[in-house]
Amino acid sequence: MQKTTRIGAFQPEFVGLDTCYRLADGRFTRRHYLDSAASTLALRGARQVADELLRHYANTHSQLHFSARIVSEAYGWAHARMLEFVSADPGCYTAFFAGSGCTAALNRLARALAASRPERDLALVSLMEHHANDLPHRKHAGQVLHVPLVGEAPELGRVDLAALERLLERHRGRVNCVAVSAASNVTGVINPVHDIAALAHAHDAWVVVDASQYLAHAPLAISDTGAVERALDAVVFSGHKLYAPGSPGVAVTRRALLENQEPDEVGGGMVDDVYLSGYRVTDRFPDREEAGTPNIIGAVQLGAVVKLLQRLGMKRVHAVEQRRLQRLLTGLSAVPGVRIYGDLDLERTPRVGTVAFNLAGLEHGLATAVLNDYHNVAVRNGCFCAHPYVRELLKPELWALDLDPDAADAASLLERRQGMVRASLGLYTTDDDIDALLAGVRDLLARPDYYRDLYEPDASANFQHRTFKIPVEALFDPEAELERIFDGQLRNEK
Ligand code: ALA
Repeated sequence: MQKTTRIGAFQPEFVGLDTCYRLADGRFTRRHYLDSAASTLALRGARQVADELLRHYANTHSQLHFSARIVSEAYGWAHARMLEFVSADPGCYTAFFAGSGCTAALNRLARALAASRPERDLALVSLMEHHANDLPHRKHAGQVLHVPLVGEAPELGRVDLAALERLLERHRGRVNCVAVSAASNVTGVINPVHDIAALAHAHDAWVVVDASQYLAHAPLAISDTGAVERALDAVVFSGHKLYAPGSPGVAVTRRALLENQEPDEVGGGMVDDVYLSGYRVTDRFPDREEAGTPNIIGAVQLGAVVKLLQRLGMKRVHAVEQRRLQRLLTGLSAVPGVRIYGDLDLERTPRVGTVAFNLAGLEHGLATAVLNDYHNVAVRNGCFCAHPYVRELLKPELWALDLDPDAADAASLLERRQGMVRASLGLYTTDDDIDALLAGVRDLLARPDYYRDLYEPDASANFQHRTFKIPVEALFDPEAELERIFDGQLRNEK
């Protein structure tokens, strides 16, 4: 009881929970933020830690003054937190920061993997990957094959282990790596990553896990049992999906995967010495993977988030979210005309708090615009940078459209149908947020024609209100903020 109260007490501690907007019907209401799979809101306390560090701000490449030592220590602390968060042994694994989401690290790993064993020219990539854990392998591996999922659309489940094993067998000696998400960014479906690792390792393949959509929702350890054959070789994630916007992306990876090759990025900090005739790359991790001045403040902010989540206990975070997920799934399932994607049996196919759905007779772009403009519910729509997976889930519906490919409007009709609405939860999501979404969905399905008349399709498969047009600068203008902060002085100086 006391433990649940602690999580409850912590839930309001995010920036942006009281953000209000004026709606198309004139009401001024609180935003219901259900787009955490795209980016989570910022955890205020972690941001404060990072702001506090700014008082000492200096470069980690300086060494002897107080501030440089403080900042270097804090940056090292952030690396240690990343390893600890996924129970990775610092003797075998390193954590490095890269880019601003998971994409830079996944590109780095795909290149490194392909270069480490050119004779193994095949990467197996799950069909549910978003582009960041698919395209880098397509670019760097000789060939990519997509691993099918269990079940039939629209109720596809997780990665099909039997199919994966067959692919590993059929291409024995050729498979260099298996790339898979810990949880899908579209359906939230969770993959059995340690079982996948065991299969891959039995065929001497590496396993790269994109945990960007998982780590804010549930605990993950490099090895679930401690057995080395079940240990993931690389886990990549994004701080902006882990309550630390402004932080870098993270890779926790076996040193062995990177140590015998030159880093992709070269520059200051990753060399022991540089001569006119050449340079010597340092053996030190993570330095050799982090050329240049790093995003120190963002990394420390993420370190603080992770520390706090560990204190709360990721098992308890997961349990709280599962109750909200159940409320969302039960509520959506009870509304006639809602189609939810992915297997709905949570026992058979566990999920994190991410749900993609469509409403009968309403394009995803129209439904999402109405949810925003009339209900202040922020959700994302489209294909979520996971086009192959979304198309696979939608296949029966797209076929049923029976479009004439020669018709002039066939392409735009298809595009408007090719997508979903996605609601995704965070630690700050309340029952009130979920109920607001459910009320919006019921309203949309009760009067679809009323809403259709109010909107017109735009060139990008979305819909725009015909009369309700608020310029976003009226809601946030960086220059007006500057004026406010400097009390109008800047304007006076013009
Ligand atoms: N990958 C992010 C999403 O799923 C942007 O929305």
